[in-house]
Amino acid sequence: MNDAYEKAAAALRRARRAIAVTGAGVSAESGIPTFRGAGGIWTKYPPEQYATLSAFLDHPADFWQFWHELQDSVGGVQPNPAHAALAALEQMGRLQAVITQNIDNLHQNAGSRRVIEYHGNARYVVCLDCGRRAEYSLDLRETTPPHCVCRGLIKPDVVLFGEMLSPDALVESDALANRADVVIIVGTSAQVYPAAAIPVTAKRAGAFVIEANIEPTDFTRSITDAFLEGPAGETLPKLVEMVKGEES
Ligand code: OAD
Repeated sequence: MNDAYEKAAAALRRARRAIAVTGAGVSAESGIPTFRGAGGIWTKYPPEQYATLSAFLDHPADFWQFWHELQDSVGGVQPNPAHAALAALEQMGRLQAVITQNIDNLHQNAGSRRVIEYHGNARYVVCLDCGRRAEYSLDLRETTPPHCVCRGLIKPDVVLFGEMLSPDALVESDALANRADVVIIVGTSAQVYPAAAIPVTAKRAGAFVIEANIEPTDFTRSITDAFLEGPAGETLPKLVEMVKGEES
């Protein structure tokens, strides 16, 4: 086991206020494509055409067609060992919360209890007029674009580019980052703000930075203290085993 694992496990063993910040890479081994890079969602569906609020409002039917296709392509996905490892750390009292950019609900399905969803959750839809929230269901395909009983336009309850993030998620994440003693960054390319700022805030507050990714990122080159290179479904379970070993 290399030095990065030793250091990361030691930091987690001492941690009292650790947080994790996750991106699409944590769900890659569950079969959900990431956004950027070869085969990424944004290479097939350019974000300026499919993922901005103005694109949604201008062409809601096109957006909904894309959204139904996306839902079909990720139907039945299950959490993988990376999600399970983060849930285990919380259970062991070594992780306070997971802040995720993902909208797939897989952290919750793996058993994580405190999950802050930065970009919403694809399980839900919301009416842009009356604010009614409901579960995404196949009934929504009966008319495209779907409308609420109040006749308002229905939108997936996820954050599109050009939309405000939930103030609750922002405030809670910022408070956690400012008090964190360890931050575990998993599977994010560090390209989208303000999510990419959370680990930097934590580092400034004195946190030890662990990063799990298949390749180096801007974080690796700037703030990371222990880089666990490889698929998170392999590296994170290894790390948890080491933390357990050191604790017993
Ligand atoms: P990206 O697609 O930008 O980055 C995915 C990261 O995961 C990359 O750094 C990969 O190297 C890494 N990765 C891939 N497979 C991995 C694996 N098995 N184990 C560990 N790491 C792996 O996705 P995000 O950083 O999540 O926002 O993207 C951030 C935001 O950009 C998304 O939430 C979304 C998107 O536009 C909105 O839609 C608002």
